[in-house]
Amino acid sequence: MIALQEKSNKAFLNARYDFLIICQHSINPEITLSDVNEMLLQHILTEEIFTSIFSDSQFHRENNIAKELYKVESTFFNGTTKRNILGVISHYYTVIKHRAAAIADHHDKQVFLKVIYENFYKAYNPKAADRLGIVYTPHEIVQFQIESVDYLLEKHFKKSLADEGIKILDPCTGTGTYLCDLIDYLPAHRLAYKYKNDMFANELGLLSYYIANLNIEYTYQQKMGQYEEFNHICWVDTLDNTGFGLKGTNTDLFGLSVENTERIREQNSHKISVIIGNPPYNAKQENYNLQNANRFYKEIDSRIKNSYIKQGTAQNQIVVYDMYTRFLRWATDRLKEDGIISFIINRSFIDSRTFDGFRKCLAEEFDFVYIVDTQSDVRKNPKISGTKHNVFGIQTGVAVLFLVKKKDSMH
Ligand SMILES: C[S@@+](CC[C@H](N)C(=O)[O-])C[C@H]1O[C@@H](n2cnc3c(N)ncnc32)[C@H](O)[C@@H]1O
Repeated sequence: MIALQEKSNKAFLNARYDFLIICQHSINPEITLSDVNEMLLQHILTEEIFTSIFSDSQFHRENNIAKELYKVESTFFNGTTKRNILGVISHYYTVIKHRAAAIADHHDKQVFLKVIYENFYKAYNPKAADRLGIVYTPHEIVQFQIESVDYLLEKHFKKSLADEGIKILDPCTGTGTYLCDLIDYLPAHRLAYKYKNDMFANELGLLSYYIANLNIEYTYQQKMGQYEEFNHICWVDTLDNTGFGLKGTNTDLFGLSVENTERIREQNSHKISVIIGNPPYNAKQENYNLQNANRFYKEIDSRIKNSYIKQGTAQNQIVVYDMYTRFLRWATDRLKEDGIISFIINRSFIDSRTFDGFRKCLAEEFDFVYIVDTQSDVRKNPKISGTKHNVFGIQTGVAVLFLVKKKDSMH
């Protein structure tokens, strides 16, 4: 169908071009028309699922990216065409709707979203799922990180997560678990303010972005009894967004008023005090040079070169350019003078020789470093073979990291 439109449908070509420009500014200048086609497919395939499970949600009417994709979709996917195409896959939707009817409470809906996020994505596009690190974070870990950060805020800054002005960002939000758990954790009388002013999330995958947005708005609605659009979720490649040192970016692209770009600019204008999350890593890719490698990030990679690599002594430090080190580099620079980072990441940096420069930088750049090593590296410890000794059911060992930076520190 899309190939057909490319030949003759001018309205489609124009709408798709407008969306391409948004993508190139928000995600990556190298995004192509075939990437946009792929997003359109994801949008069309999942729209039906979301509207049947979240029929009372305003998400699809309100979300700025969904609206833009609707514009492209509506240039050809209407009436009989839509009915005929969706008719071919209607038996899948029937099963889903049947299951959806049995989902009664909020908790079950969240579980459903996590399943779509992981299972659907992995089946639909396994390479992208691996490259992006599509794995949700268990609730217990998220809760542990949130409560520990709150404790550390009190201990080191005499502040709390609920305080006005303590701005919190999840830079790779997936299904939005960290912000959803934060909504549950914060006292209700502070929540409206925090939700409007102090909570931020970024996500790169379109489907994940939709899921996170739905999840966050739904969790808020459940707790507060009313729907409120969440304006602080950005569809963006976090690692490419290093514009927080600048005054602002152009939000009027070719005459389009682009809400997403405005959101990114707004996020960049704030001082962020807490960066929390579960950055991606490639489960099947232990080597930077393997196929399915991540893209090159000019600015962040050069920051890594001039810090972690420069301080390191090993000959070959290519593995230091991991996705989690990129996120740490980005987060450290984003915090500027003070604040807290909490990530759950690969534990390899703790004792691997290649990471000596990385360790040295952490010690220099932060005033307090807390590491909870879950001792879960299955390859190093044959006694714990299998998948049940690791919170993610994977072989790679993980650690929970808390880093505290203080402006007025003594050294
Ligand atoms: C391990 S998952 C996070 C899971 C999340 N905490 C949850 O419970 O659902 C990592 C997420 O980072 C996103 N991601 C990967 N690279 C990114 C980038 N450069 N910028 C923003 N998000 C990115 C992936 O799409 C994925 O959803």
